[in-house]
Amino acid sequence: MLSSRLCGFLHCRLVVTVAVAGLISLNVMFLWTSPLTVCLSSNRPGSGRQHIWKNNSLVKAVVDKPVLLLWYWPQNYIFNLSDCKTIYNIDGCHLTDDRSLYNNTDAVLFFHKAIRLATLPKSPRPPFQKWIWMNVESPTNTYKIPGIKNLFNLTLSYREDSDIPVRLRLTSRKIPDEHFEIPKKDKLICWIVSNNFKRTGAETRSAYFRELSKYVKIEVYGKAYGSFLDYKDYFPTIGSCKFYLSFENSVHKDYITEKLNGPLAVGTVPVVLGPPRKNYERFVPGDSFIHVDDFPDAKSLAEYLMHLDMDEDAYRKYFNWRRNFSARPHLILKNQEFVLAICTACDYVGKHRDYKQIPDIYEWFFN
Ligand SMILES: *[C@@H]1O[C@H](CO)[C@@H](O)[C@H](O)[C@H]1NC(C)=O
Ligand SMILES: *[C@@H]1O[C@H](CO)[C@@H](O)[C@H](O)[C@H]1NC(C)=O
Ligand SMILES: *[C@@H]1O[C@H](CO)[C@@H](O)[C@H](O)[C@H]1NC(C)=O
Ligand SMILES: *[C@@H]1O[C@H](CO)[C@@H](O)[C@H](O)[C@H]1NC(C)=O
Repeated sequence: MLSSRLCGFLHCRLVVTVAVAGLISLNVMFLWTSPLTVCLSSNRPGSGRQHIWKNNSLVKAVVDKPVLLLWYWPQNYIFNLSDCKTIYNIDGCHLTDDRSLYNNTDAVLFFHKAIRLATLPKSPRPPFQKWIWMNVESPTNTYKIPGIKNLFNLTLSYREDSDIPVRLRLTSRKIPDEHFEIPKKDKLICWIVSNNFKRTGAETRSAYFRELSKYVKIEVYGKAYGSFLDYKDYFPTIGSCKFYLSFENSVHKDYITEKLNGPLAVGTVPVVLGPPRKNYERFVPGDSFIHVDDFPDAKSLAEYLMHLDMDEDAYRKYFNWRRNFSARPHLILKNQEFVLAICTACDYVGKHRDYKQIPDIYEWFFN
């Protein structure tokens, strides 16, 4: 019989083993039955309940979904937790914000900005439980909260080397789409921008914008320029422009956000400012966007955009990628800001159960 400590540590993997083996042979299962039943129920009462045993045979092996506990609601943006299923078809975990389930929770998600030592869980951490560090901001906009660097087992961020990278990705088409029609355009270049605070690193893009607007007209919307755009107008506005400035607030590897996705989703050509072109090409085809680094200065970029405005065939080439890929709109409501990140965590927790620990979260994130 497994000792109860070991049992707790191994339980997740064992549940899976049981279910898979159960499909192969019920006879083999017989040998496993009793220690496992005890093991599961003694360590994590919420788990293993869906195993239905009859005459020492596993009649029905429904693998219990791991429980993912959202410890803090990021920025208090509360959304319906079943959105993971309804919006992204992600259903691999039981997602909850009920802290009383803590002792039976496989993974706990901690939103970095909200973490305070005094509000972390008080009970000892069950040995099978993983803590996930969640941060979708770039290092420029991340502040070190003291005392938490060695608490976590998994990282969730925009970075591709996170355990749980978060990003809305293009999907490849099974059948090429030959019929894409560029939406009607009545503006050349648009930009929706909600912040231009220097401390967020946004000065680089603000400076580039000021320089670019000396040579070409740019329609600007958003909080930063006093004209708040209604949510319902967000995608239609982007769609009505030939080009959209997908300027990130700060420049970091992999920090390529929904600012790129918006124009791709609605049929507008993104002009990007962020990490190098090569980094973008890891996520989207090289002919789907224009990079500010492709030009020696803002003036030559402006001239190129005005040239494309006149040359329909050259402009159209920026949509060739759509034959083979599609982009879908991201969620834009305020309270939906973290839905993708949280659902991605749920998906991961449902699929991975390995042991892991991160000695220093900041060493990884800032270096
Ligand atoms: C289970 O065992 C009982 C008696 O021990 C027997 O009557 C019954 O048929 C068995 N059921 C199955 C599914 O083997
Ligand atoms: C959450 O969404 C589900 C499925 O769409 C729905 O059945 C449920 O009523 C919603 N709950 C709340 C609190 O809105
Ligand atoms: C969790 O378990 C600890 C003992 O490890 C216990 O003190 C605590 O009350 C439990 N918490 C809940 C919410 O059941
Ligand atoms: C999670 O990380 C903590 C802290 O490093 C470690 O003590 C614990 O054993 C790890 N647990 C799992 C399940 O990976």
